[in-house]
Amino acid sequence: MCGIVGYIGNNNAVPVLIDGLKRLEYRGYDSAGITVYEESKLKTVKTVGRLAKLEEMLLVQPVAGVIGIGHTRWATHGRPSNRNAHPHNDCNKKFSVVHNGIIENFQELKEWLQEKGHIFNSETDTEVIPHLIEEFYQGDLLAAVKQALAKMEGAFAIVILCEEHKEQMVVARKASPLIIGIGQGENYVASDIPAVLPYTREIIILEDGEMAVVTAGSVTVTDFSGNIVAKKPFHVQWDVEAAEKGGYEDFMLKEIHEQPRAIRDTLTGKIDRQTKKVVLPQVNLSQEFINQLEKIHIVACGTAYHAGLVGKYLIEKLVRIPVEADLASEFRYRDPIVKENSLTIIISQSGETADTLAGLREAKRLGSRVLAITNVVGSSVAREADDLILTLAGPEIAVASTKAYTTQLLSLYLLAIYLGDARGTLAETDRISMIDALTEIDVQVEKVLNTETKIKEFAEDFKNCENIFFIGRGLDYAVSLEGSLKLKEISYIHAEAYAAGELKHGTLALIVEGVPVFALVTQGDLYDKMISNIKEVKAREATVVALAMAGDHETAKSVDYVLHIPKTHPLMTPILSVVPLQLFSYYAAKARGCDVDKPRNLAKSVTVE
Ligand code: F6R
Repeated sequence: MCGIVGYIGNNNAVPVLIDGLKRLEYRGYDSAGITVYEESKLKTVKTVGRLAKLEEMLLVQPVAGVIGIGHTRWATHGRPSNRNAHPHNDCNKKFSVVHNGIIENFQELKEWLQEKGHIFNSETDTEVIPHLIEEFYQGDLLAAVKQALAKMEGAFAIVILCEEHKEQMVVARKASPLIIGIGQGENYVASDIPAVLPYTREIIILEDGEMAVVTAGSVTVTDFSGNIVAKKPFHVQWDVEAAEKGGYEDFMLKEIHEQPRAIRDTLTGKIDRQTKKVVLPQVNLSQEFINQLEKIHIVACGTAYHAGLVGKYLIEKLVRIPVEADLASEFRYRDPIVKENSLTIIISQSGETADTLAGLREAKRLGSRVLAITNVVGSSVAREADDLILTLAGPEIAVASTKAYTTQLLSLYLLAIYLGDARGTLAETDRISMIDALTEIDVQVEKVLNTETKIKEFAEDFKNCENIFFIGRGLDYAVSLEGSLKLKEISYIHAEAYAAGELKHGTLALIVEGVPVFALVTQGDLYDKMISNIKEVKAREATVVALAMAGDHETAKSVDYVLHIPKTHPLMTPILSVVPLQLFSYYAAKARGCDVDKPRNLAKSVTVE
């Protein structure tokens, strides 16, 4: 996601900021900027595009100073542009702020500030922060920041400079990472450790709800109320490459572990906590359009298509509108029947997949309204769609998609609930129970991640097998498809996913002694049927690993091994059940010595047909 770097000391901050931002480049960004304190003024240089462009600008309009902040932005609120690039200022350019995260209540704050006469320059949520500080400032920066923090909801890591306080930076963190690097007579702040590693290996990690005043010679950490928090720096042992991976061996593992955070970010601002209704700020479907909707198409490729299959199931269940899910490469050529009163949902992490983009254009050509679910603001899919749900997974670097999938699922849940509510097909009690389940799903994903060691052992046991089957029914079948794709793409083990009830129509011929079968058993209404299917494969002496719900003690009696996922709403299980499958694929691939982040023959973004 976005990158933050800050410096205070005796040297020129500019090269440190640029160098630090370059070290965060791997996270992806679409604009960049810096502010330094020069000759009693805060001077900001920023631009849309790459850091190289910022460097060119700095050659033409050089700035220098011993305190400064820098930022690379990955657009969320507001498209990539010069004005939306960070740092952001208040009306009088007395404060300069860089921010990662999302200010959930920014619209409300913006209106409040505008009523008080503040003039906004950008479309970002971030800009409310300098204006809030300006509103509260009476000479005491820390006091003003604390007042601003008390007003801000959502997730943030922020660094603030004030023209009248050239001796300090004020930083704060809530649900978005921020670290402080301790130097000799100079200190650093950053959103991620790699940014400061060439300068120091002594790091303080700020926790949620902590803020700090950083000067060249001191760091004072407090909570948001000002109570001192004693922090001890830790010494980083990792090299730069390992640090980029946050200490994980590979980006894929890091991204699997980022899922709770990605889920929280994607949900931010999309649920009204009072009414427990879904709010989709970039979806503008009129009530009339929703009432007249006759058909929904879902078009995507690969993992995104598998998320779409879950979406089909959900929307049909909650909205009672027929849904067709298509692989984009098929949709574009099959002369689909797309009616006027239809909505086409395009799902794409990158927003640039050639087949998916062609599917989008075909749907539009045929007269359908298009809603995109994508992870990249400003991507072709995001730009060409009529409506947008942005997944806030952050840049996905590993080729195999993990956190993008779970946040695509989340977006589809939100959309299904939104449409079901608007169509009157979803009872209020059901909506509330689903919203409640969604708001705790991040913590449950964390619980699944805690079972990693056991999953690793399974994966190592199965590393030499040539074929693995994934079976399930209903939503479990959709997740089986994703589990099977994940395994084959990174471990090169041949994997097949089957609707468990379909095995007897042919594939059962391949189930012989010792063949591993991953059986997903999370769907209560299909439980007995699924157990019968497991018995069919056990009768052929397959080795069965079941993925069952917590509290299910029966399944264990019919299988060789069982893994449990926490209890949740029956429709939400895919978000939890996919995680062990991701970890299984990862560890199987590692055990086979594969390059998990860059599997053979695959590219991250498939921009050719
Ligand atoms: C698999 C994977 C691919 C992508 C597919 C679509 O792990 O990543 O199957 O899901 O290429 O890509 P996007 O979502 O960028 O359109």
